[in-house]
Amino acid sequence: MAIHNKSHSNSALMSINKMNSNNIKRKTSIDYKIPEKTNCILINKDCLDLLQTLPDESVQLILIDPPYNLDLEVWDTYDNYIEWAAKWLDESYRVLSKNGNMVIFGGTQFLDARSGDLVEIIYHCRHNTMFRLVNTIIWYYKNGMSAHRYFANRHEEIIWLTKTDKYYFDLDSVRVKYSEKDLELALRDKRLNPDNVRKGKNPTNVWEIGRLNGNSLERVGHPTQKPLEIIRRLVKSLSYPDSIVLDFFAGSGTTGRVCIEEKRNCILCDNDKKSQDYFKKHISNMKETDLNKPFIMNDSLEDFFTEVNLRKN
Ligand SMILES: C[S@@+](CC[C@H](N)C(=O)[O-])C[C@H]1O[C@@H](n2cnc3c(N)ncnc32)[C@H](O)[C@@H]1O
Repeated sequence: MAIHNKSHSNSALMSINKMNSNNIKRKTSIDYKIPEKTNCILINKDCLDLLQTLPDESVQLILIDPPYNLDLEVWDTYDNYIEWAAKWLDESYRVLSKNGNMVIFGGTQFLDARSGDLVEIIYHCRHNTMFRLVNTIIWYYKNGMSAHRYFANRHEEIIWLTKTDKYYFDLDSVRVKYSEKDLELALRDKRLNPDNVRKGKNPTNVWEIGRLNGNSLERVGHPTQKPLEIIRRLVKSLSYPDSIVLDFFAGSGTTGRVCIEEKRNCILCDNDKKSQDYFKKHISNMKETDLNKPFIMNDSLEDFFTEVNLRKN
């Protein structure tokens, strides 16, 4: 009896499998130049006010870690969560380039009808938008709170959405190197392509990356700051040098820091003015770790787009 593998019902995966079997190559690579300097802007306003001012199809990657109405912080409260989220999802679809990617952090931990979670966002995208779901990434960590009335939580999810099946994806930039012993074994495995084996393994959609604990050197003071390593993997694989990355729930600006280090342009937005101080701390940490790359901090979106577009022409 044939056993139906449900992962094959994912429409994005089905079309990839079909193209692979027909030997059709997806156009996922882009000719880009590595710029000497990139541009960055941090805007303090409501995300919807910012989104409405951005041109259509102007952004390569939208990377967000939204609030979910969990009453953890003052910014975490909305009366009708999905009605509100639908507004920024629709705007995100409009500003995303045709080969662009959107990633959304979240969990499945709804409290009541007012609260939101990633399941609600996925349901909304599936039934009310043209977004395609490419992957659900499980971010697995070993450090976390203990629990007595349920199994202690050790993962969060990240969904990866695209507008079309011609999305940009640079797997090689995030492959994980084999150990010497495993490389030898993998090179003997006739099912594997030796060129890819030498480049490293696909990191799969389960990522083990520690959460930031209280005394982590990366910490800049934001209560829900994400680790650089996880943001870096997303930025490197889903955007390319000198493209535009948007994070409209920027928090401390972790995405901005990674974009500067990886030579991407970045638009950050947060409605809390404290994000300016957090971001300054990120920049000074960058200097200390000698990762600082030349970048221009813009004051207006007009200057940002003018300077970025000038380099394209
Ligand atoms: C989960 S945190 C993001 C943390 C970030 N990923 C980091 O690494 O620092 C969500 C952020 O969204 C911001 N926020 C909440 N509602 C917002 C809104 N309507 N517009 C813009 N920012 C908002 C909050 O101030 C908070 O800093």
